[in-house]
Order: sequence, then C-alpha cells, then structure tokens
Amino acid sequence: MTERIVLAYSGGLDTSVAIGWIGEATGAEVIAVAVDVGQGGESLETIRQRALGCGAVEAYVADASDEFANEYCMPTLKANALYQGHYPLVSAISRPVIVKHLVKAAREFGATTVAHGCTGKGNDQVRFEVGIQTLGPDLKCIAPVRDLALTRDKAIAFAEEKGLPIETTKKNPYSIDQNVWGRAVETGYLEDIWNAPTKDIYDYTATPEFPPAPDEVTISFEGGVPVAIDGVRVTPLQAIKELNRRAGAQGVGRIDVVEDRLVGIKSREIYEAPGAMALITAHKHLEDITVEREQARFKATVGQRWAELVYDGQWFSPLKRSLDAFIEDTQQYVTGDIRMVLHGGQAIVNGRRSGTSLYDFDLATYDTGDTFDQSMARGFIELWGMSAKVASGRDIRVAGK
Ligand code: ARG
Repeated sequence: MTERIVLAYSGGLDTSVAIGWIGEATGAEVIAVAVDVGQGGESLETIRQRALGCGAVEAYVADASDEFANEYCMPTLKANALYQGHYPLVSAISRPVIVKHLVKAAREFGATTVAHGCTGKGNDQVRFEVGIQTLGPDLKCIAPVRDLALTRDKAIAFAEEKGLPIETTKKNPYSIDQNVWGRAVETGYLEDIWNAPTKDIYDYTATPEFPPAPDEVTISFEGGVPVAIDGVRVTPLQAIKELNRRAGAQGVGRIDVVEDRLVGIKSREIYEAPGAMALITAHKHLEDITVEREQARFKATVGQRWAELVYDGQWFSPLKRSLDAFIEDTQQYVTGDIRMVLHGGQAIVNGRRSGTSLYDFDLATYDTGDTFDQSMARGFIELWGMSAKVASGRDIRVAGK
C-alpha cells in the first residue's frame, strides 16, 4: 500500500507546493489538513478545493475555533501569560491544537507521517514535532522546507511549471501567522531592528494616532473566564472576537519586540493582539481584588514559567499540566466585572466590582468608621524589621574589629 502523509495545510504558496513536492520526493500520497483557529481570510472550502487542485488525495478541514478559544486561549488568559513580559503566545498556543487535529487525521486516513511547512530556524518546528511525538509517538515527521530543500524560489518555479491553482506573483515580503488570539509579522524590512514598522504591516489594529472617541467596555468574568461584554452573554470565542474589533479600532495590543527563540536566535517580531491584551489587562485587574496576596505573588512566577514552557513547545508536558492545576485553583474567586476605557492604543481599567472581592472598604478607608487598628502597626514593624536589624548589628560589630 502507498504510504500516506498528513500535511498541515494553510492554503498558501509553500504548503500548496509542498503537496506535490512531498509526493515527488517520497512517493507518498498527501492528505492536506487545514485547521481553523479563527485566522479569518479565505473560506475553508476554498482552501480545501485548492489542496485537491494541488494534488492532495484527501483534504480535510477542522473547525477548531471554539476549541482553540476554550482550551488554549482561556488557559493563556488565566495564566496572564506574556512571554518575556510582552508576547501573549499567539502562534505558540495554536500549534498544539493543530497537532491534535493532524494526529487525529493521521489515524483516520491511515497515515504514517506528519508534515509541516516550518523552516529549520524557528520555534514552530519544535512545537509541531514535540507535540506529534507526544500525541502520536509512532508517527514520523517531515518538514519539506527544512528536509527536502523546498526554498521559496523553487516553490514558485514548481507552482508555475505544474500550473498549480495558486497565486505566485503576489509578493508579500513578510512572514505572517494569525489566529483569533492575535497576529505575528516578521522578516524583510523588519529584520533591521532599528526600522520602525510601517502602517501596512498592521491588520488587526487601527493606527492609534488618529483615535476615534474613547470606548468604555465592561467585561464580566466567572472563574477567570469572560462570560459577558456590556451585559451581553458571550462565549470565550465571541469575547475575543468582540474585543479584537473594539480594542483593535483603538489601536490596543500592538507589540514590537526582539525575543529569544528556543533555537538560540534573537529575532524581531511585530504582534497585534487587541482582544488578548484587553482581556489579559482586565483579568489581571480582577485578580488584583479577588486573589489573596501570597497566592497572587506566587502565581506571577508560575505564569511566567508557564509562558516559557508553552513558548518552548512543552504544551503537553507534565510540568505544564501541574502548573495548570495550580493556576486553575487560583481562579475559583476570579468572578466579577471590570470596566475599562479603550483609547489611543491603551486599555485602562477604571472600575471593578466583585461579590468575591477581598477589598474591604472599612479596612482601606481613611475616613471615620475605619476598622483598621493603627496601634498594631508599631509592634508589627518592630518584629518585621528584627531579622535585618540583628544582621546589620553584626555587620557593624565585625567592621569595628
Ligand atoms: N515568534 C512567534 C513565536 O515563536 C511567532 C512565530 C511565527 N511568526 C510568523 N510571523 N510567522 O511564537
């Protein structure tokens, strides 16, 4: 029986050519698998037909947009995960859900190998292959760009020679990856890290120098997850989409960073994540009133480690699973409303309320009726500083000898 290979298919030039290229190099039949993670653009049926037109024996499309929002974006939100303090893991969290569907398709169509369109220099090859090793340990992996010398020039020549139903002339100088959680743009002119991004790079956000009137929004959360916007019930996917639209119109969520890739390279990336950044900001502010101080301090370090693990392709690892359990436990009381103003590229919280809040007005107030007994503070400070005071006494003693 002819060997079958499942290919992660985007509908773009490289993966379209990869169908025939893999076929010629290996003699295998190629099954194209496209996964909808809310990237927008062409319809999945158009993409499916193109895969068949490029020689795929089967083309399978999976609508994973709700699954992606519920099981991948929401854990990222609960963790307030920002890799290196900036990047909300847009591409990093999409790879594991794509892998799930690739492995499922490999089983369904009797494939022995999974293929993807990544280069040998990035993080995504690692995320795909570590995920596949974990979920389908018997499956082999192949990356035509990396392993079968499929360069851009060769891809264009191949598409023209074979008359593939794909545009080869439309020259986009950037490498773009997008889904409902955000959009990543790199390469070309952006590789000079002193070059400011030009306006044409952006798609999810409007240019904030010319802002429309401020937009005030109230986001309601239950257990760390958004459940309503301005009082209208929403699913996680709807919440992200609605905030992509409203925060995007105000230029919220633009990020320009040089980040540390897993393979040891520092690389420049431009991100746009209006919905994600508005949600993370709101969620963090709700945690500020509902999560106890020590739990909150520890959670910040857990969230950072979580972001590193996910960035580094360890989504399915035991440590990531253990950290998820901790984070989930902290979300028990993260229920309430956050009001924020979206304007001029910023999302600024200006009100919060929660039935499970730890904010105690009577303890906090400087007005009469205050229940905080200030006379306790003197003794507390004396004991709090004791250890450092004893140590400093020792320093003086030793220095004096
Ligand atoms: N640097 C990001 C990451 O590793 C995004 C990778 C994909 N970026 C792109 N523009 N194609 O998660």
